[in-house]
Amino acid sequence: MKRLAILGSTGSIGQSTLSIVEQFPNRYSVAALAAGRNLEEAFAQTLRWRPRIVSLATEELAGQLAARLKTAGLPEIEVVHGSAGTVACSTHPEADFVVSAIVGVAGLEATHAAILAGKPIGLANKECMVAAGEILTAAARERNVPILPIDSEHNAVHQCMRVGQHGEVKTIWLTASGGPFRHLPLNEFASITPEQALKHPTWVMGRRITIDSATMLNKGLEIIEACRLFNVPPSQVRVTVHPQSTVHSLVEFVDGSILAQISVTDMRLPILYALAYPERPASTLTFDLAALRHLDFEQPDFERFPCLRLAYEAAEMGGNHPIALNAADEVAVEAFLERRIPFTGIPSTIERVLASTPEGHPATIAEVLAADRQARQSAHALLS
Ligand SMILES: NC(=O)c1ccc[n+]([C@@H]2O[C@H](COP(=O)([O-])OP(=O)(O)OC[C@H]3O[C@@H](n4cnc5c(N)ncnc54)[C@H](OP(=O)(O)O)[C@@H]3O)[C@@H](O)[C@H]2O)c1
Repeated sequence: MKRLAILGSTGSIGQSTLSIVEQFPNRYSVAALAAGRNLEEAFAQTLRWRPRIVSLATEELAGQLAARLKTAGLPEIEVVHGSAGTVACSTHPEADFVVSAIVGVAGLEATHAAILAGKPIGLANKECMVAAGEILTAAARERNVPILPIDSEHNAVHQCMRVGQHGEVKTIWLTASGGPFRHLPLNEFASITPEQALKHPTWVMGRRITIDSATMLNKGLEIIEACRLFNVPPSQVRVTVHPQSTVHSLVEFVDGSILAQISVTDMRLPILYALAYPERPASTLTFDLAALRHLDFEQPDFERFPCLRLAYEAAEMGGNHPIALNAADEVAVEAFLERRIPFTGIPSTIERVLASTPEGHPATIAEVLAADRQARQSAHALLS
């Protein structure tokens, strides 16, 4: 029985993880749940899963949850809050696997602490790998802690890599659906509304990642995530637009062979893979190969999606630049959703923040968080 700490339990990945636990009660149980502000869902999950410890974003919300649990006859469940609370969940002695699925750098400290505590990680939270990938992977290597990607593309790459050696890899090909604006004329980009951008053609996900998919910054973050997870330079990671989202990614080997991973478009499959690795439990997540008519692959359009270029530039520079890329995007996406800037304001904000980012290579999580705060301040200053 693997006992899970689920960080971001109330989100899209968190809920999919719990549905895997539901399907495999003999394999998985829940030791810790960390959520943000969704008190109702956190309460319902706590009643259902009876973890040892639950965390919410603020002291006030944690107080309300503790009172409701007491009334419900569950006063023994520990309720904590804030970043110290998520760390208490990710390092809880009864947790033996951590699903890192908080959105943004809010999940960084808890993910790092879990690695230091020797807990295997199922990683959905790509932003923490973008901001602090070198620190996280070095800590994991030192302690022999596996980081198993949940992001479907990296999960696919992980699967393809199992048949070859690291030195035999020529190119990692990340597939991208291309988002909802693949064919929209460029002169209409400025008038894209949040409602249009929140409609992803193939995946149902949280708000930030959905907007990031529409700008293709999400693919940019994934390029950096792939460099960190698989220890390759940005020149070895390429993007191909594949609108069907059927091939989740590919690995090209030096002998000319290309391996692809195909499966249903459902995040429960990469989650199950990460939880069960190196085993493959039988599941109901089947893919109907007979229904497959064609697979399209296209070059990404760097003019339409400048976020891709910005991500490659930040990946090449390393250090403060990927941190600033992620932080500026988070601030800009929020401003776009609040209708304070147009869709095209997202890449232009990121570009201006990157241009003013000083060179530097943070060596600790505290330094990463300081660089993140600095970039956020620059983005806010630009947008105010
Ligand atoms: N969804 C997907 O299909 C998908 C695919 C690949 C990778 N990912 C990655 O997985 C991560 C989660 O994505 P998602 O789509 O599941 O996002 P989501 O639905 O927006 O969920 C985000 C989760 O993070 C929690 N959270 C936010 N701020 C927090 C804080 N300060 N402290 C503690 N918890 C906090 C939220 O809690 P409340 O809701 O309670 O506030 C929620 O549980 C992201 O890094 C994303 O890029 C997602």
